[in-house]
Amino acid sequence: PFDWYRRMREEAPVRYDPERRTWDVFRYEDVKRALDDDETFSVDPSRADDFEEPTEPGEGLILDTMLFEDPPRHDELRGVVDDWFQPRTLADRESHFRALAGELLDDAVDGGGELDVVADLAYPFPVTVIAELLGIPPSDRDRFKRWSDTLVAAASDDEGAERFTERQQRSQMEMGQYFLEAIEERRENPRDDLLSVIVTEETDAGERLSHEEALGTCMLLLVAGNITTTNLIANAVRTFAEEDADLFERLRGDDRALTRAVEEVLRYRSPVQAMSRVATEDVRMGGETIAAGDRVVVWLGSANRDERRFDDADAFRPDRSPNQHLGFGHGTHYCLGAPLARLEAEVALSELLDRVEGVRLAETTLQPTRSAFVYGVESLPVRYDERR
Ligand code: HEM
Repeated sequence: PFDWYRRMREEAPVRYDPERRTWDVFRYEDVKRALDDDETFSVDPSRADDFEEPTEPGEGLILDTMLFEDPPRHDELRGVVDDWFQPRTLADRESHFRALAGELLDDAVDGGGELDVVADLAYPFPVTVIAELLGIPPSDRDRFKRWSDTLVAAASDDEGAERFTERQQRSQMEMGQYFLEAIEERRENPRDDLLSVIVTEETDAGERLSHEEALGTCMLLLVAGNITTTNLIANAVRTFAEEDADLFERLRGDDRALTRAVEEVLRYRSPVQAMSRVATEDVRMGGETIAAGDRVVVWLGSANRDERRFDDADAFRPDRSPNQHLGFGHGTHYCLGAPLARLEAEVALSELLDRVEGVRLAETTLQPTRSAFVYGVESLPVRYDERR
C-alpha cells in the first residue's frame, strides 16, 4: 500500500471516498490531530449517520468496550484492567513468557532446517500468553485456540468483519458461553488472574462491569491482542531477513538494539494500518470540510511513512531514534497492550535468535493478510542453521 499512501499524501491528503462513504486521512500531522481530539473524532461507531445496529447475536459485545467508548466511560472501562498491562506488572511474568516461547521453538527447531515463523511461533505465542494472563487452564488451551482462530479469521477479513459466517457465529457463542461460566466461577472464587480482575474490580464510578461488559472485555483482549502481535513478530523476522542478513547476528544478545529494531518494524510495517473514527461536528482538515456524522479512517501506516515527519521515511533503519511512530495509535485510545506486545515480540525474537542463525526467507512470494487494516503475511517459511 505504500506507493498509494505516498501518492495520497501528495495529491489528496484528506479525501472523501464515495464508494466506502468514508473520509481518508494520510498525513502524520492530520492523523495525530484526529487521534488527539477525541471529542471531534469519536470512536463510537453509533454516532455515524449511516450506522446500523448489529443484527447478529454477540456481534455487538465488543461495541460495549473501551475501544468503542468515548470518555468518561472509556476511562472507567480501561481503568479496570490497566494495572495488568503496565511494564512493571508484566516484568514479573517475563520468565514464564520466555518458557512458553521456548517450548514452541523447541518443537519447531528440530534439525529440519526450516520453520514457518507464523504457524510455529508468531501465531500460537500471543494466544497462549493471553490465555495464561486471563487464567485459562492449560487443559482448555486447545479449545480456546480454536475459538480464537475463527474469531481472528473474522476480524482479519474485511468481508468477514461485516458478515459472520455460521461457523464463526457458533464459535463466538461457544467461547462466550465458556467465558460466562468462567466469569461466574471467578465471582465466587476470585484468583490471581485477569479474568478475576475483570469481574471483581470496581470502576472509578464505583461499580463492577456488567456481564456483557466483562464478556466484551475478554473478547476485546483476544481480538485486539493476538493477530496484531502475530504480525509484529512475523513482520520483524521478514524485515530483518530482507533488509540485512547480518542484522540477526547484531541483535543477538543486545536487548537495547532489539528494542529499537522492533520499534522500527512498528513504524515501517505497522501491523495495524488504519483506525476508524466518526466526526461529531463539522471540522476543517487538509482544506476539506468533514461533516458531523461522517466516518473517517486515519491511516497510521501512511502517517508512519510520512516524509514530512521522518527522515528517509521509506528506509528501514533498525537503530532509528527517536522514533515517534503511531503504530500503537496515540492519545486516549493508545494501545493498552503496547507494553505486552513489545515484551512478547522481544521475547519471541530473542528466543529464536538463541536457537538459530543464518535465518533467510524460504520463499520469494509471500501471501499478504487479507484485510487492508492489518499488515502482515499468512505464513513465513524460513531456513536456518541450528546453533550449538
Ligand atoms: C488499542 C495496535 C497489541 C489491546 C490499539 C490501537 C492500536 C493498537 C493502533 C488504537 C486503537 C484506536 O485508536 O482506535 C496494536 C498493535 C499491537 C497491539 C500494533 C501489536 C503489535 C495489543 C495487545 C493487546 C492490545 C497484545 C492486549 C492483550 C488493545 C486494547 C486497545 C488497543 C484493549 C483499546 C485501548 C483503548 O481504547 O483505550 N492497539 N495493539 N493490543 N489495543 Fe492494541
